[in-house]
Amino acid sequence: MRGVLVTFEGIEGSGKSTQLLRLSERLRRLGVSHIVTKEPGGTALGAEIRRLLLTRHASGEAWAPEAELLLFYADRAQHLKAVIRPALEAGQVVLVDRFEDSTRAYQGASGVGEDALNHLRDLVLQRLRPHLTVLLDLEPEQGLSRAGSRNEALPGFQETRFDEAALDFHRRVRQRFLQIAKDEPQRVSVVPAKEDPALVEAGVWRAVSPLLRSSGIEVD
Ligand SMILES: Nc1ncnc2c1ncn2[C@@H]1O[C@H](COP(=O)(O)OP(=O)(O)O)[C@@H](O)[C@H]1O
Ligand SMILES: [Mg+2]
Repeated sequence: MRGVLVTFEGIEGSGKSTQLLRLSERLRRLGVSHIVTKEPGGTALGAEIRRLLLTRHASGEAWAPEAELLLFYADRAQHLKAVIRPALEAGQVVLVDRFEDSTRAYQGASGVGEDALNHLRDLVLQRLRPHLTVLLDLEPEQGLSRAGSRNEALPGFQETRFDEAALDFHRRVRQRFLQIAKDEPQRVSVVPAKEDPALVEAGVWRAVSPLLRSSGIEVD
C-alpha cells in the first residue's frame, strides 16, 4: 500500500480534533493530498454504530463490555473497507481521530482481556498497522475540564459530573495509552498536550514530518 496512515490517540479533551484540524490545514497549504476521518463513525453505517455507542438508551440499559467491544470493531471493519484501505491504496495520507489504541486503552480499562483484544485486532486489521500514532498526553483532570467547557457550547448539553470513579477510570486509560507507547516506541510518538495549541502543533509536526519526508512527500 502506498499511502500513509497516521492515527491520533489520547484521552477525552487531549486535543485530538483540534490538532487533526491544524495538521490538515498545514497539509492543505503544502498541497499534500490527505483525508481526515474518525472512529467511531467514519462511514454512513458507522455513524449509526457511533450513535448506538455514545448515546444512552432510553431504557437505561447499558452495553455489556463485550457487546461494546464488538460494536467498535464492527465500526472499524467497515471504516477500513470503505474508507481507510481505499485511500491508502490511492496513495493518500490518512489522518484518523481515534483508532485501535483507543479500543485497547478504554475497553482494556473496562476489563476486556489482552487475548480478546489481540484476536479482534488480528481479525479486523489483519496486517495493517498505523505508520505513526500521535499520542496526545494530558492529565485527565485537564482533559475532562477542557472537554466540559467544549461541550457546554453544544446544543442539548447536559452536565456530566466527573467524580473520583470517572477520574480514576481516565487515569487508567491514560496509563494504558502510555504503556502502548512504551511497548511500541517505533510506532507511537508521545506529544505532551498541556501547552497552548500552537506549541502542541509544533510537537505534532516534529513527529509527523519525518514520516512524510521518508515517504517521499515534499513538506519543506
Ligand atoms: N492545547 C490546548 N490548550 C487549551 N485548550 C485546548 C487545547 N487544545 C484543545 N483545546 C480545547 O479543549 C477542548 C477539547 O479539545 P478537542 O480537540 O475537542 O479534544 P479531543 O478531540 O481530544 O476530545 C476544545 O474546546 C478545544 O478548543
Ligand atoms: Mg475530538
